[in-house]
Amino acid sequence: MSAFLSLRDVWVEYGDKVVLERINLDIAEGAFVSVIGPSGAGKSSLLRLVLGQDAPTRGSITLDGVPLKPECDSNRGVVFQRYSVFPHLTVLDNTVFGLECERSRFIGRLFGASRRAAIAEAEEMLQAVGLGDSLHLYPAQMSGGMQQRLAIAQALIKRPRILLLDEPFGALDPGIRNDMHKLITRLWSDYSLTVMMVTHDIGEAFALGNRVLTLDKWRHDPHAPQRYGATVVYDLPLTRKGAPAADTAPAPHEEADREESLSITIDIIDNN
Ligand SMILES: Nc1ncnc2c1ncn2[C@@H]1O[C@H](COP(=O)(O)OP(=O)(O)OP(=O)(O)O)[C@@H](O)[C@H]1O
Ligand SMILES: [Mg+2]
Repeated sequence: MSAFLSLRDVWVEYGDKVVLERINLDIAEGAFVSVIGPSGAGKSSLLRLVLGQDAPTRGSITLDGVPLKPECDSNRGVVFQRYSVFPHLTVLDNTVFGLECERSRFIGRLFGASRRAAIAEAEEMLQAVGLGDSLHLYPAQMSGGMQQRLAIAQALIKRPRILLLDEPFGALDPGIRNDMHKLITRLWSDYSLTVMMVTHDIGEAFALGNRVLTLDKWRHDPHAPQRYGATVVYDLPLTRKGAPAADTAPAPHEEADREESLSITIDIIDNN
C-alpha cells in the first residue's frame, strides 16, 4: 500500500540547473514534517511541488496513491512568511473570500443562504485561530502575528488535508512565535492535518515536527555548482510526549536520540 503522500525519484531542474534530485519520501497521514536546510537548497521548491504549483521535471508524486495534478486544489492549503491578504477586505471577508472562490468559481461571490453559511464557517475558523474578536478589522490594523493567524484561517477554511507552511513565523517576534507554535500544534491535532513546515529555526523544527528532514547537497562540483541538486540528507523521526501522532510516550533513550539528532543537524547547518 502506498503512503498518504509519496514522492518517487523526484527532480526539479531549471534549464541546466539541478535544484532537487532523487527525492524519495513517504509521508504518513497526520505527520508533522519540518523541513530545514541551507538557503537555496530547494525547500520552497519542494513545497511548491506538493502544493501542485510546480510539477517535477522527473519522478512522480502521489496523494492516496493517485498522481498529484500539477494544480492547486482544496486538498492542500499554504501559508507563506509574508502572504497576500487583501488589504481592502476585513478579516471576515478575507476568510469568506476563500470559500466564495471555491464554491462560486465563475463569479467569486455567494449570495443568500450559501453566503450566510460561508460567513458562519469563517467566523468559526477565525474563532479557532484566535481572531474571533477581530472580524471587522482590516489587515493594516493588525499586528504581524494577527495577520499570520488570518493567513492560517484562510488556508484552513477550505479544509485541506495537507497544510504547507513556508517559514510562516519567520517574521514574528519570539514571544508571538511561541503563541503561534501552540496554535499550530492545536490546529494540527484538531483538524487532523498533515503538515509540512519549512523553517530556518532548528529549535522550531524540532519543537513542532514529529519528523525533521534536512535538504542539502551530497555532491558538489566547484566547477559546475549547478550540476548537482539537493536531496534529503537526514530524515529524523521524533517521538515525544503529547504529540498526537505518537503512539507511545518516548522512552528515556528516545529523548537522548532526539538531543543527539538535534546536535547532528546543527552541525550540518553550521557547516554551510
Ligand atoms: N523559477 C525559477 N527559475 C530558476 N531558478 C529557480 C526558480 N525558482 C527557484 N529557483 C532556484 O532554485 C533554488 C532553490 O530555491 P528555493 O526557493 O526552493 O530555495 P529555499 O531552500 O526555499 O531557499 P530559502 O531558504 O532562501 O527560502 C535556488 O537556487 C533558486 O534560485
Ligand atoms: Mg524558501
